[in-house]
Amino acid sequence: MIQIIPTQPIDGQKPGTSGLRKKTRVFRQPGYLENFVQSIWDGIGGGQGKVLVLGGDGRFFNTQAVQTILRMAAAAGARRVIVGRDGLLSTPAASHLIRSRGADGGVILSASHNPGGEDGDFGVKYNTANGGPAPESVTEAIYQATTQITQYQTLDSSDLDLSAPGTAHLHQTEIEVVDPVAEYAALMEKLFDFGAIRALFDSGFRLRFDAMHAITGPYAQEILVNRLGAADGSVVNATPLPDFGGGHPDPNPVWAHELMGHMMGDAAPDFGAASDGDGDRNMIVGRGVYVTPSDSLAVIAANAHLVPGYAGGLKGVARSMPTSAALDRVAEALGIACFATPTGWKYFGNLLDAGHATLCGEESAGTGSDHIREKDGLWAVLMWLNILAARRQSVAEVMAAHWQEFGRNYYSRHDYEEVDSDAAHALMEDLRARLDRLEGQTFGALRVAEAEDFSYTDPVDGLVTARQGIVVSFDGGARVVLRLSGTGTAGATLRVYLERYVAGPEGLQQDPQTALREVIDAAEALCALHARLGRTAPDVVT
Ligand code: G1P
Ligand code: ZN
Repeated sequence: MIQIIPTQPIDGQKPGTSGLRKKTRVFRQPGYLENFVQSIWDGIGGGQGKVLVLGGDGRFFNTQAVQTILRMAAAAGARRVIVGRDGLLSTPAASHLIRSRGADGGVILSASHNPGGEDGDFGVKYNTANGGPAPESVTEAIYQATTQITQYQTLDSSDLDLSAPGTAHLHQTEIEVVDPVAEYAALMEKLFDFGAIRALFDSGFRLRFDAMHAITGPYAQEILVNRLGAADGSVVNATPLPDFGGGHPDPNPVWAHELMGHMMGDAAPDFGAASDGDGDRNMIVGRGVYVTPSDSLAVIAANAHLVPGYAGGLKGVARSMPTSAALDRVAEALGIACFATPTGWKYFGNLLDAGHATLCGEESAGTGSDHIREKDGLWAVLMWLNILAARRQSVAEVMAAHWQEFGRNYYSRHDYEEVDSDAAHALMEDLRARLDRLEGQTFGALRVAEAEDFSYTDPVDGLVTARQGIVVSFDGGARVVLRLSGTGTAGATLRVYLERYVAGPEGLQQDPQTALREVIDAAEALCALHARLGRTAPDVVT
């Protein structure tokens, strides 16, 4: 029986960089999830007749939320919902399923790399028929619906058993439970030279993949160990847990310090990698060498022709604006276009759909291609493994050769987390007010060549997205970018992106924080961020 439940708008249900992300406790308030899900249906023109994909990263509240959403999809008249076994799907696997099944869209439950658990974070994201995050026009319609909602519809039915693949009915909606790994693994087999990677492992190549107790455990076990022959035990922290084992499932040197320790130690394997809560991010480490995401993207672009799925060449590449320009140098050498977009994967969708770009990535450990419409952690790992197998070189050798050829964009991001929101907004506004006057001024040892508030005009639909981060470029090509995070759930997070180019052949093996010293000092001189935020150092340096 369909139930119509009266409700009223709840403040703050505005999707951010990547869906609606809140404390789990907020999502568990009566009607909170229901209001947002009903608003999704309202924002996309109703659920009647739709085919939807549903799954999440398994964090606390995933199980309950999946059942709630199934009931609401059935009450809305959806034709079919394809749901991962036990309500699980990695974000890339969900994106692939939406595309391969020709679904109208999908609901993904995740707060990505944010901690999970009762006191952690939860999130809900809507992806459209191309498999990618809903564009601004759709998230805005959803948000408008949250401000006008008067009722939601659900069923008074009991929970469905989602523990095994098969088909069931809920009201008039067909519910298809699928193995979360199978179709994704099949796609990877099509893109990569599994034979060459298997031969690499057969020759004694050793790998450590840290799933950080998040969703990629089962995917990595199946693909890397079962299908590619990596040694048993190569995938660690492989069992997904509702609170990610109390950890912070963000694959960077700070949160994946256990893996970093292994990779920098005497007994390091040849290759290390990690992924995040929902499986779309990646971290790449060689023995004794950490590869920044910006460099990883550039290396992948420069070597993509070695991978069967990309042997035909790249149509173009794209990066988020704060990502380093290492990619631009590769694009120039390849003679292809390189786009700079605002932060957030949703801005890549149009470029991929229109065939303007094949590869894209962000400095925040997201890399991907037009095989789906999300970034893809395991895909990036397989890219690297395929490239290493083809080049017969170590990670350190690949990096050294890359920098020799293209020069090196030293890069680092300094995050000030959970700072006072008013102070952070005031800092940005004050800087905005000074932008016109900055050119020619000197901060520390660096002189400003250009300052702007980044604005993006989508080349496909012409939509303009303004105020996407303040970019201060200095003489000689160094730059600082400042922007506020759109994914945090407490206070504000200020991200300071620092970059400097060294052409080589000398000076290519410096420590990034040392190489960036003048840029870091210039950023401080520019906006006195420590004094204004009441901090003495960043919380996270990547
Ligand atoms: C962060 C990253 C961004 C990424 C997003 C979702 O957003 O910076 O690159 O697309 O998470 O994974 P932010 O918190 O900076 O808004
Ligand atoms: Zn993620």
